[in-house]
Amino acid sequence: MSLKIKDISSQLNVPVSTIRYWQDKFTEFVRPNRTKGGQRRYSEKDLDLFRDIKRLLHEQKKSIASAKAVIKAELKGCRHFDWTNKTILLTGGTGSFGKHFCRIMLEKYNPKAIRVYSRDELKQHNMRFEFNDDNRLRFFIGDVRDVDRLRRAMAGVDIVVHAAALKQVPACEYNPFEAVKTNVHGAQNVIDAAIDTGVKKVVALSTDKAVNPVNLYGATKLCSDKLFVQGNAYSGAKNTRFSCVRYGNVIGSRGSVVPLFKKQLASGVLTVTDKRMTRFWITLDQAVELVLKAFKYMEGGEIFVPRIPSMKITDLARAIGPECKIKSIGIRPGEKLHESLTGEDEGRNTLIYKDMYVIMPSFPWWNRKNYAEAVKLPENFIYASDTNDQWLTIEELRHIIFGNPSPTNTSSELKTKVANG
Ligand SMILES: NC(=O)c1ccc[n+]([C@@H]2O[C@H](COP(=O)([O-])OP(=O)(O)OC[C@H]3O[C@@H](n4cnc5c(N)ncnc54)[C@H](OP(=O)(O)O)[C@@H]3O)[C@@H](O)[C@H]2O)c1
Repeated sequence: MSLKIKDISSQLNVPVSTIRYWQDKFTEFVRPNRTKGGQRRYSEKDLDLFRDIKRLLHEQKKSIASAKAVIKAELKGCRHFDWTNKTILLTGGTGSFGKHFCRIMLEKYNPKAIRVYSRDELKQHNMRFEFNDDNRLRFFIGDVRDVDRLRRAMAGVDIVVHAAALKQVPACEYNPFEAVKTNVHGAQNVIDAAIDTGVKKVVALSTDKAVNPVNLYGATKLCSDKLFVQGNAYSGAKNTRFSCVRYGNVIGSRGSVVPLFKKQLASGVLTVTDKRMTRFWITLDQAVELVLKAFKYMEGGEIFVPRIPSMKITDLARAIGPECKIKSIGIRPGEKLHESLTGEDEGRNTLIYKDMYVIMPSFPWWNRKNYAEAVKLPENFIYASDTNDQWLTIEELRHIIFGNPSPTNTSSELKTKVANG
């Protein structure tokens, strides 16, 4: 990918002049290509480097000399992760995350093949069509409850992304046996099949609802996290490595509150369960980026948590329907006022590294090479949506959801935008 300096500036939220200054000071690390007209064009790797520079200078307040020393050490320790020769199995590949992952991988990283593994043939048919029959995509009908099918699907696979899950809180409450079969037994099957077929690395997707769970969905994902972390101890000579990523609500994913609010817009009343509620908020781009970073840095057993902003549910409602009435309908069973991405007992094992929190496993099975420059957090550290230091404003939420309407947009203008997709 080729990025202009203003793209780097807007992605990192720093002025172009600062990027120019960093370019000058870190010229031995950041080496952009030049267009025929002499303009600089940056790669994804350069963007990562600028992100590191921002973290080291702005957050960790390091001097330029010590930031350089850190970058040098990290570049030495961490090889570039090359996707071009990788065959990937993606469970839940037809879901919101799965499709976005495929889009980004095919556009930017060109893997050898992605095997999409899921149950419903219609979703796979539609996806094949949406992706113009891209021959790097292979469609495997299968259920994560079926370990034999998983073994067959993982033959010759290097990397597994495990995204398949039952994820609707009420559905899991009402069908608990089904939730356990898919989210817990399914996780164990993925681990067994990956070890048996010699897969190298597996990343499983987890959720904030797995932290101190109050509903069955969260409880099954907590079990799944524990299986994946401890799965490393089962891999023996096969050396398969397992890690998790854990994040909050995905803006606009299937079943999220955004489509609900958009639907309610016409009625003039938006319903929230409790006006005090806060949530972490992540885009699909950020979720995919997190998974890619996890593959790059994982050594096995880590849970990677992105540093993402929070939002107030009432701000989201105001962003979508500025003139609508907001009506409280009462908190649902299994719902929390605020979510956490790290739990009380995890603070002592949590590091800040590369703009992520990394929860290290409690059992240090092997020597770690990465994370030398990571910063340890206090024992009582909890990353919660109500005490977060980053918040999305109403304008930012509106921008994320609708593109770029002016802040003065009225509900009826926004309704037109919704109607136009
Ligand atoms: N969306 C969020 O806000 C959010 C937040 C944090 C974490 N996560 C996690 O991210 C992951 C992906 O979420 P998503 O939003 O992409 O979910 P989604 O849109 O509901 O997609 C779920 C995918 O899993 C497949 N699937 C379901 N049961 C299966 C089974 N038994 N065997 C094989 N495939 C199965 C579905 O296809 P078929 O129905 O055709 O099988 C679909 O492809 C989940 O693990 C979820 O817990 C999501």
